[in-house]
Amino acid sequence: MENRERTFLMVKPDGVQRGLIGNVISRIESKGLKIVGMKLMHISQELASEHYGEHKGRPFYDGLIDFITSAPVTAMVLEGDDAVDIVRTMIGVTDPRKAAPGTVRGDLALFMGKNIVHGSDSLESAEREINLFFGKDELYSYQIAAEAHLYD
Ligand code: RTP
Ligand code: MG
Repeated sequence: MENRERTFLMVKPDGVQRGLIGNVISRIESKGLKIVGMKLMHISQELASEHYGEHKGRPFYDGLIDFITSAPVTAMVLEGDDAVDIVRTMIGVTDPRKAAPGTVRGDLALFMGKNIVHGSDSLESAEREINLFFGKDELYSYQIAAEAHLYD
C-alpha cells in the first residue's frame, strides 16, 4: 500500500428502506476496500446539522436534514489506497440522472434528493466525518489475507 486512506461512506435512509445495504457493501467488498467500522444508526438533528453544516442556508438544506434524520442509516469507514477518490468514483455524481452506469447512483437511483449514499469529498472531510460518526473504539485495524492480491 502506498497511500492508505480512510473514508466515510453512508447508506442513506432511502438505501436502507429499499433494501440496498447489501448491494452497496457487496460493491465495496468486491472492489477490495476494507471495512474498518460499520453501524446502523438513527442520525439526530444535531449530528445532521454538523454533518451537512456546509449546506446551511441553501434551499435544499431543511429537506436534506429532514430526510437524513427520517429513518436509520448505515455508517461505514473504509480503508485502502486512495480510498476517498475511489469511493467518490464508485458512488457517481450527485444527480443520479447524470451518474454513470456502474456507479451506485447511476445504477440504483433516479432523483437528486434520494441518491442512496454519501461519501466524503476530500481527505479533510473524511477525517471530520469519521470523527463525527465514530468513536476510536469503534474502528478496527486488521489485516486481510487478500491484501497481497490487491496491492503490489
Ligand atoms: P453527499 O454529500 O450526500 O455525498 O452528496 P454530494 O457530495 O454528491 O453532494 P452535496 O453537494 O454535498 O449535497 C449533499 C446532498 O444534498 C442534496 N442536494 N440537493 N436540490 C439540490 O440542488 C441539491 N443539491 C444537493 C443531495 O441529496 C446531495 O446528496
Ligand atoms: Mg457532499
